[in-house]
Amino acid sequence: MMNKKIALGVLFGGASTEYAVSLSSAAAVIKHLDRSKYDLILIGITRDGRWFRYFGDEEGIREDRWHSNPGCIPAFLSPDRSMKGLFELAGTEYRFTPIDVVFPVLHGKNGEDGTLQGLLELADLPFVGCGSLSSAICMDKAIAKTLVEAAGISVPPAVVLTAAQWANGDRASLEHLPFPVYVKPARSGSSIGITKAHDPTELKAGIDVAFQHDDKIVLETHIDGVEIGCAVLGGTNLIVGELDEIELQGGFFDYEEKYTLHTSSIHLPARIGNTKEEEARETALRIYRTLGCRGFARVDLFLSHDGTLYFNEVNTIPGFTAASRYPNMMRAAGLEFPDLLDRLVSEALNDRPDGHLTTL
Ligand SMILES: Nc1ncnc2c1ncn2[C@@H]1O[C@H](COP(=O)(O)OP(=O)(O)O)[C@@H](O)[C@H]1O
Ligand SMILES: [Mg+2]
Repeated sequence: MMNKKIALGVLFGGASTEYAVSLSSAAAVIKHLDRSKYDLILIGITRDGRWFRYFGDEEGIREDRWHSNPGCIPAFLSPDRSMKGLFELAGTEYRFTPIDVVFPVLHGKNGEDGTLQGLLELADLPFVGCGSLSSAICMDKAIAKTLVEAAGISVPPAVVLTAAQWANGDRASLEHLPFPVYVKPARSGSSIGITKAHDPTELKAGIDVAFQHDDKIVLETHIDGVEIGCAVLGGTNLIVGELDEIELQGGFFDYEEKYTLHTSSIHLPARIGNTKEEEARETALRIYRTLGCRGFARVDLFLSHDGTLYFNEVNTIPGFTAASRYPNMMRAAGLEFPDLLDRLVSEALNDRPDGHLTTL
């Protein structure tokens, strides 16, 4: 007898500057999910935060046509534990579709930052990826760095500045940061709002840009070296994919480069030798545990020319197109995209540790 299919809610879009990235990730995820195992319930969120159930195909998502599909109906996830699933407005009445597990394929604000995870926890609905606390911590570069540093892992020298401090003319903390300096909104992604400043004029302009995205920003010393990515999967038992390395031709890994790779290239496996590779894996696992991650996350490090590993950030819902770094790193370790998706869903259903922060 056939096992009952799993009702899998896939969330895409989102009220986030990374809306478009989510559409690409979600289209790839939907394409590779095995329909003999899953009944898919597709839930789209527009840039301005409206929720719909979508009945069309993944191309409509990839090309951002999904919301004009006539079959799209207003819908929202229930926070009620006795009604785990989706309420959909069909004509003038609400109907209910039960959901077993949710895969939020959302990036950035209102999707990757713990807010949505809080709703799912309230509903006691299993979901793929980190819980609300871990997601919120990883989204905030200032807080994540403080915790990782407290765990004894190197972080780039940095200063945190709030909009209120800046408005009050508080500049003292900036004086000792050597150029170039990265100016980052504390909570962003895809390099949106980030400037690499080489002098005080660029720094001032960069600060203004970053404050357009967040009222807290991080100013960080440039680490001269290479960027290393570690794909981690699991809850209690963790696996790490093959490491990758980003080779840049000057500049930094900005939005344009991330999605075109015009001047940068990604090496898989990273060309850093066995010893550093082992150290990077161990460091990534310690960071993953320190920040209470579960499900999956991509831990990004810098390896400086003098051989020191620095923490950069954790992406709790990393880019997930078929060509993205996380699936590539797992594929290189022997886990193909559809198997990776099965694994993530099964972790969500069966292996959900509390996500306590292990150093606290
Ligand atoms: N301290 C740093 N040293 C060197 N490069 C950095 C540093 N901080 C950021 N970068 C560059 O900027 C990119 C984006 O910064 P990151 O903090 O990863 O933000 P995002 O969350 O938007 O990906 C990195 O991939 C890297 O190329
Ligand atoms: Mg990054």
